Amino acid sequence: MSGAQVDVRNVRKSFEHGRISALVDVSLHLDEGELVALTGPSGGGKSTLLNLIGALDRPDAGEIVVAGLDVATLDDQARYRAETVAFVFQFHNLITTLNAVENVQIPMLGMRPRAERERRANELLGEVGLGDRTRNYPPTLSGGERQRVAIARALANEPRLLLADEPTGALDSETGAQILDLLRRVRDERGTTILLVTNDDAVAAQADRVVQIRDGLLSSSETSALQAPS
Ligand SMILES: Nc1ncnc2c1ncn2[C@@H]1O[C@H](COP(=O)(O)OP(=O)(O)OP(=O)(O)O)[C@@H](O)[C@H]1O
Ligand SMILES: [Mg+2]
Repeated sequence: MSGAQVDVRNVRKSFEHGRISALVDVSLHLDEGELVALTGPSGGGKSTLLNLIGALDRPDAGEIVVAGLDVATLDDQARYRAETVAFVFQFHNLITTLNAVENVQIPMLGMRPRAERERRANELLGEVGLGDRTRNYPPTLSGGERQRVAIARALANEPRLLLADEPTGALDSETGAQILDLLRRVRDERGTTILLVTNDDAVAAQADRVVQIRDGLLSSSETSALQAPS
């Protein structure tokens, strides 16, 4: 399955009855299989934008189209979240009472039979270099290993778009670089489109393109040419 094309057009999002403008007017296009880094100061709107693209929240205005689906008005957002898009966060959000292979199976619950879930979870852990740690519980894994489990879990249902919010933010720079290598490999081998929030210049430099968001506005020269006329 190929990566998703993403079109964000003139999106606005405010909080607290309009007192806080998190996104003022954001337009952004991602090609299939593009790896784009999203940077910018704290509070600039990075997580808000990711959450809207991932249908965790809805925009006040504008349009978000992912793989041909109008995300903001989608009838079945749960299905979109289960099948098209996946998240990786700064803190891996693994369930500590489940081992690695059980954690990776979570998104597949109710979607695939048990034997297939297990086989696939083991296979994914092998792909992220944890073939020998499949029965470990999160507290017995290093930070980088936990993030690998989180990435394997995110890949469980073969998402066409991966949204990663500071996936290397809690890691030392060497481990962070390894996680980025892994994400690049995911992109190269699966064609997954990846939008990655980072404040680390070394991480951003590994992306195909860097876009910056500040005060709810994109401010990179690369994207301004792609923005829809407002
Ligand atoms: N649920 C919410 N309710 C109220 N305000 C919010 C909410 N979510 C975000 N905001 C506000 O919207 C603005 C953008 O926040 P956002 O989390 O998108 O920033 P960010 O770029 O991800 O910052 P950071 O780098 O610190 O994670 C901030 O002013 C924030 O306080
Ligand atoms: Mg954030």
